[in-house]
Amino acid sequence: MSFSNFKVQAPSNIALIKYWGKKENQIPQNPSLSMTLSKSVTINDFKVKSGHGELDFSFNEKVSNQFSSKIENLFLMLKKKYPILNEYHFTVQSMNTFPHSSGIASSASSMAAFSYGILSFLNQLKVLSTDVLVETSYFARLGSGSACRSVYGPFVEWGITSNDYAKTVLNHTSLNQLRDSIFIVSDQPKKISSSKGHQLMNTNPFAKVRYERANHKVIKVAELLKTGDWETLGPMIEAEALELHGLMLMGDSPFFLIEPETIKLINYIQNYREKTKAQIYFTLDAGPNVHLLYPQTFDQEVKEISKLFLSEGWIKSVIHDHAGDGVKYL
Ligand code: DP6
Repeated sequence: MSFSNFKVQAPSNIALIKYWGKKENQIPQNPSLSMTLSKSVTINDFKVKSGHGELDFSFNEKVSNQFSSKIENLFLMLKKKYPILNEYHFTVQSMNTFPHSSGIASSASSMAAFSYGILSFLNQLKVLSTDVLVETSYFARLGSGSACRSVYGPFVEWGITSNDYAKTVLNHTSLNQLRDSIFIVSDQPKKISSSKGHQLMNTNPFAKVRYERANHKVIKVAELLKTGDWETLGPMIEAEALELHGLMLMGDSPFFLIEPETIKLINYIQNYREKTKAQIYFTLDAGPNVHLLYPQTFDQEVKEISKLFLSEGWIKSVIHDHAGDGVKYL
């Protein structure tokens, strides 16, 4: 007998100040701040019946996938804290609205969606002692650090208020619909996983100064989001993206994730801004794809730029997204 059927969704997010380096138990070395996306989401279809704590998880109808072991670990942690889960059998079908390996952080949306599904179910059973979203953010973090920020929107910090869970930061209304157009330079799997990148920070000789800088930057960015001063924020976001990639180059086992087309696009955007004064800035994740961030008044300009890059074959595709809310019960 089916007990409960429901669907939840969780968005991906793009960090403006990056989480790079962590301690035991997914505690970040520095605070981070991100913008939650709107169209790039994971949807989880939950079917719950009586059982003995089983989980059948499939992604795009495949039983084994890149996330199965992370999801299984997360489920074990949830069962440890909430033993009542051992009385049910969960079947979860997961899918993303964005292409696999598109460079969009799918572990963030996946871990947030799964945590939210289980915790909304527990909330219905009235066994939660804390707020469902705070608990979702806490467990999403245990699945993947950046996932804790995907619970809320449109702008979210992790590590200012607490290292355990994320919290929304205030923003000026002019930034409610801030755009993120993701120029996909490569759809190949990353050369170095984020987990490996975090680990390499443990021996990075610049780690201490990096963590101090990130602490200052995150406060400054939170202030600027409040006043909506995009012309001051933009250059800070660009510098932060390059600092992240600089850290990768300056470690004991250096590596770089950017491709020639990444640099081409960065140069193009900086020249374009210089010429036209269009307030379009870039950021990068731990990969070669370029996120263009800009207020909606520059939609047309970015469409033209994407047309050029696509027609020249410099990029594979573009995803036009914008700031949005966090997890949703569908
Ligand atoms: C560069 O959250 O993917 O995107 O905690 O090991 O799962 P794990 O790492 P993850 O790292 C994200 C790194 C980043 C910066 C960021 O999103 O803040």
